[in-house]
Amino acid sequence: MAELVLTEIDKVYDNGFYAVKDLSLDVADGEFLVLVGPSGCGKTTALRMVAGLEDITDGTVAIGGRVVNDVGPRDRNIAMVFQSYALYPHMTVGENIGFGLALRHEGKAEIKEKVDRAGRLLDLTSMLTRKPKQLSGGQRQRVAMGRAIVRDAELFLMDEPLSNLDAKLRVQMRAEIASLQRDLGITTVYVTHDQVEAMTMGHRVAVMRLGELQQVAAPQDLYDNPDNIFVAGFIGTPPMTLMHAILVVEADTAGLRIGAQYLPIPRSVVDARSELAAKAGQEIIVGLRAEDIFHEQREGSHPLAVSVVLSEALGSSVHLTFGLEGTPVDESRLGSGLAKEEEQELTRLGHSKEIEGVAVFPPRLQFRTGDAITVFADGSRLHFFDVESGRALR
Ligand SMILES: Nc1ncnc2c1ncn2[C@@H]1O[C@H](COP(=O)(O)OP(=O)(O)OP(=O)(O)O)[C@@H](O)[C@H]1O
Ligand SMILES: [Mg+2]
Repeated sequence: MAELVLTEIDKVYDNGFYAVKDLSLDVADGEFLVLVGPSGCGKTTALRMVAGLEDITDGTVAIGGRVVNDVGPRDRNIAMVFQSYALYPHMTVGENIGFGLALRHEGKAEIKEKVDRAGRLLDLTSMLTRKPKQLSGGQRQRVAMGRAIVRDAELFLMDEPLSNLDAKLRVQMRAEIASLQRDLGITTVYVTHDQVEAMTMGHRVAVMRLGELQQVAAPQDLYDNPDNIFVAGFIGTPPMTLMHAILVVEADTAGLRIGAQYLPIPRSVVDARSELAAKAGQEIIVGLRAEDIFHEQREGSHPLAVSVVLSEALGSSVHLTFGLEGTPVDESRLGSGLAKEEEQELTRLGHSKEIEGVAVFPPRLQFRTGDAITVFADGSRLHFFDVESGRALR
């Protein structure tokens, strides 16, 4: 078992593409760390640098206190599971699991013992003599896990190992991999772009965007306290509703001007956040989680007039997509200074755009597209961000 430490690693591909920028990350001994982010953000590249399959342009990777930049993949003592399990079709399940050991010329008895143990762990005992094509997708996935387990590696690296499975099997394997990792206690880095996997499997989650690490935190902490609007919008389904607003602070009240509407917020919310308080009278970005918007008034909630864009009955709940007059947030432009210029231009032209948001309501409520309705937002459960940098105001 081992700790994994990435220190300021960069990856620039031969064509000059900057795929990973200044990535520093400590994964504790025995920890399950999930690396998540949109397609192309550099997750696989980062994992392949740890594995030794990709040169590190700059920075260091240390496994168990040993810098491995110049150590070949076979000598890094890691085991990998990828999206394609790459099982050998002509070998039995047992032979597939033990193949790496046979390559290392381990003794037959020893191989059998390890394969049997992995088979028991993964509930594959009765299938060890079958061929891969006689297995279900989930069972094949477990064989790939078995191959990783028998290697007695110090570090597991997994790259979207469940993406070939159907939804139900994914849920089951998600739980199995997490519990197996707990039992074995092997330091694991698990790459996914599925944020449900990220939320449910990892001790901590590292969020990447465009080659850069955005935030590393325990799943609930990431959800409750996103550091910036990218993390706020990326973590959570349905996504957080983000909008521009003017923060109004008076003698003992506070509120937000959103378009022509006013949403009161408890004064204590502002007083508890010095960076937010400093924005009194200025434009900020406000985030509202779907579960903090209600269809009826509750204590601490205040009305907002919205229009129904789409109502989806999911059985156990209704997802309501609504339009709200005001200025939406284009997070892709944040930090570039473009957002503000564009907004000013739109204001000058007398245009107003519509904020699109999502609320989760109890089942069986019915709404018609185009209807004007009132929803109620909890003013004490908002998230606040800086307009220029997109960073949380705390
Ligand atoms: N060999 C290469 N040469 C040049 N650019 C590359 C190379 N391999 C990957 N890239 C680019 O580097 C970026 C990161 O790729 P990477 O495969 O790490 O993304 P990812 O986060 O794993 O995405 P996905 O979720 O789609 O698997 C992408 O923009 C990709 O096009
Ligand atoms: Mg990838």
